[in-house]
This record gives sequence, C-alpha cells and structure tokens, in this order.
Amino acid sequence: MKLSPAKNLRGEILIPGDKSISHRAVMLGALAEGVTEITNFLRGADCLSTMDCFRKMGIVIEDSGSVIRVHGKGLHGLSAPASMLDVGNSGTTTRLISGILAGQPFESTLNGDASIQKRPMNRIIAPLSMMGAQIQSMKDNGCAPLSISPARLRTLPGGAVRNVLKGIHYQSPVASAQVKSSVLFAGMYADGVTAVTEPALTRNHSELMLRQFGAEVISEGTTASITPEPRLQAQKIQVPGDISSAAYFIAAGLIVPGSRLLIRNVDINPTRDGILQVARQMGAKITLEHTDTSSAEITADILVESCGLKAVTIGGELIPALIDEIPMIAVLACFAEGTTVIRDAAELKVKESNRIDTVVTNLKAMGARIEATDDGMIIEGGHPLHGAVIESYLDHRIAMSFAVAALAAEGETTIRHGDCVNISYPGFYETLLSL
Ligand code: S3P
Repeated sequence: MKLSPAKNLRGEILIPGDKSISHRAVMLGALAEGVTEITNFLRGADCLSTMDCFRKMGIVIEDSGSVIRVHGKGLHGLSAPASMLDVGNSGTTTRLISGILAGQPFESTLNGDASIQKRPMNRIIAPLSMMGAQIQSMKDNGCAPLSISPARLRTLPGGAVRNVLKGIHYQSPVASAQVKSSVLFAGMYADGVTAVTEPALTRNHSELMLRQFGAEVISEGTTASITPEPRLQAQKIQVPGDISSAAYFIAAGLIVPGSRLLIRNVDINPTRDGILQVARQMGAKITLEHTDTSSAEITADILVESCGLKAVTIGGELIPALIDEIPMIAVLACFAEGTTVIRDAAELKVKESNRIDTVVTNLKAMGARIEATDDGMIIEGGHPLHGAVIESYLDHRIAMSFAVAALAAEGETTIRHGDCVNISYPGFYETLLSL
C-alpha cells in the first residue's frame, strides 16, 4: 500500500463494529437459548474465525448482510467439531473459546496462523488446568496448537453427560481481558462460583454481555465472579463502533494540519477509553457529542481537530485501557513537543507482532528519535518524519498506525502487506481515501 502526505482530513465517518464485542456476541449467542441478532457486527477476519469455529460445533449462523443471526443451542448444546478449529490470527478467539471448550464433554483441537503459534497460551492453560480442565499445548511450547479433552465427566440423574469443572478464585498475574474472559466462560461449566482478580482492571465487555444474556456476574474492583450454569437467553446486540479503530482517525485528525473529523458512534467504555485520556493530556482538541448512556456500553460521537501536541508519560493502570492503541500513540508522540515515555507495557511483546520492536524499527525508518525499553519505549518528539518502506509484519495495528504516520510525513511511504488491516478493519484505506 502506497501513501503520500494528506493536505487535510475533513468529514464524518462511521467506525466498524467493536472487535471484542463482536467476538463475544457470537460466543454468547451460540450458548444462549433462542436466536441472537447482531447488528453492526465486525466482519474482520478475526471475528469471522470465531463464527467459523462455532459453525464447526453445530451452530447455525446466518448472515443477511445487515444482521447476523446466531441460532443458540443453550449452554450444553455445542457438538464435537469434526476437524481442528481454525482461529486464524485471533488471540481473542483462541483464549476465549478455550474457556468454553474446557467445559465441553467432547475433545477438540485448535490452531491458527504463524503469529498465533508464537503467542503465549500458558496464561490460560494454567487457570483452566486449576479448574480441572485437560488442556495441552500440542508442541509442548506453551503455544497453539492446543488440545482440550474432557477430564471431569459426570452423568447427571437424567442421563445427560457433563464435564463439570471446579470453581476457583484465580489471581491472574497478567492484566488480560482474554485471560479473565476465558476463566469466566469456563466458570459457567463449574461446580461453584468462579472468580478472577486481575492486577489492573481490563476491558469488561465479557462481564457486561454475560449480564445482558442473564448470567449472574459480580464485579468488585479488579475482581469479577460468575455463578455457574446460567440460562443464557438470546439478545439483540447492536455492536458499537470500535474505539481501537477510531484511534487511527483520532490520531490522523490531530496530526494532519487543518483537519476536522467527526467519528460517529464509538464505544467509550471507561475500560477502553485510554486513547481519549492520553490525547487530552497531549493537549488534543477532542469533543464528545451525543453521548448515549442507555446501554451498558456507552457510546459517543468524537469530534477531533488538528492542533499542537505535547509529550506525555503513560504507564500503570492506564495501560490496559489503551494497550492496542500504543503503536498509534507512539506515532502521535513523534508529533508532540518533548519526550514521551511509555512504560509498564511489556504485554506489547506478545501481541500479533512484538509491538515494541515493530513500532521502534518502523519509526526509526521514518526518521523518528525513539528507543525501545524493556517494557515500552521513549520517544523524542518534534522531529519531522519522512516516508519510508514500512514492514507491517502482518500486524493490522502496525499497518494502520503507519498509514496514519505516512499522511503527516514528508514523501511517499510504502506499507508492505498492507492488506492485513482486514483482520480488524476491512475498508480502512477506503475510509481514509474518502477523507
Ligand atoms: C482483547 C483483549 C486484549 C486486546 C485484544 C482484545 C479482548 O488482549 O489486546 O486486542 O477482546 O479481550 P489481552 O487480553 O491479551 O490484553
């Protein structure tokens, strides 16, 4: 993908559906009784992987274009897949579905692409094993492919066979919504309450949606707990726009001089809104309009106008609220006066690419003054970027962050394998062009 500098970006855009919420809507829809109707579902490759996995377990999912209809079969209605489940590039699919599979009375195996086969799965293998699940890294390297078999089969008085896990209180060593969600989903199949305490609060979409479907989920500080055997009921889910996708346009609006963008219907759930907090700290002109608090997932329109930016220090509990936006924030920092420090973000190393390395390498190629640290990066802003050949490393967020950098750099930029944006944002370049 070749990009040249933009003069100014003006207009109004609608952001595609939230990736995290789209995954969860299919998963809980499959385990609910009745037909769940999902609108504004994200048709990114990751969410399509989730749909494909549930179809392989006997769930009928219709796609009429405007609505996805998931014909739920109840908590115990999945059937054994005839072949390996393919999670593609999706860490969310892998970790969340593993929690569900751990509670099934049948065997399953799952695998994905080269990136997935390098991502750490011990973080879910450990708690799921504590719950009595039989889950193994087939190559014994803590990564996918994974095999999951029923280890605690019980025959109920009526004759039904269930794989009953043990309820636990898990102290997670890592602030990860995927770990939390995996354990809570497994907790639906346990013999008692399951709780997860995390080192910092992460996105709470699972808790909110489980409650919407009728599960008893309690959130207290950084602990979430679930009562087993919920009777999930089909829901109508309108997926709000993904703030992680909006982040590219927020950043583009800030750094391309003369820009003014209205980004409509974005989920501003406080566990996800770190990008807004940071942009404001940098001095950004951002206004929220039409804030809608009628659902648990709060949405708003975001108006952004270009302006001068100043450096920030980011770390601690804010990190989970903006973890996917750090590549974009690193680019923003190049356009800010002063030195930006990003710390406590070692998780970046185990994303779709090692995002400390891939951000630093690519920004250096564009002339930025940036250094990697053990848990983040240090960026000296205020030095102009120039066009370069950027390697996406097949990481969608790297491709999009550098497409935005290219708009405010001097000269032409080429993004190699730029089509990997389809993982989370089909139509990204078209939307950019429309502005
Ligand atoms: C996600 C959680 C985060 C995030 C990912 C989506 C989710 O991952 O980076 O893009 O939907 O739960 P971790 O749980 O690994 O932090």
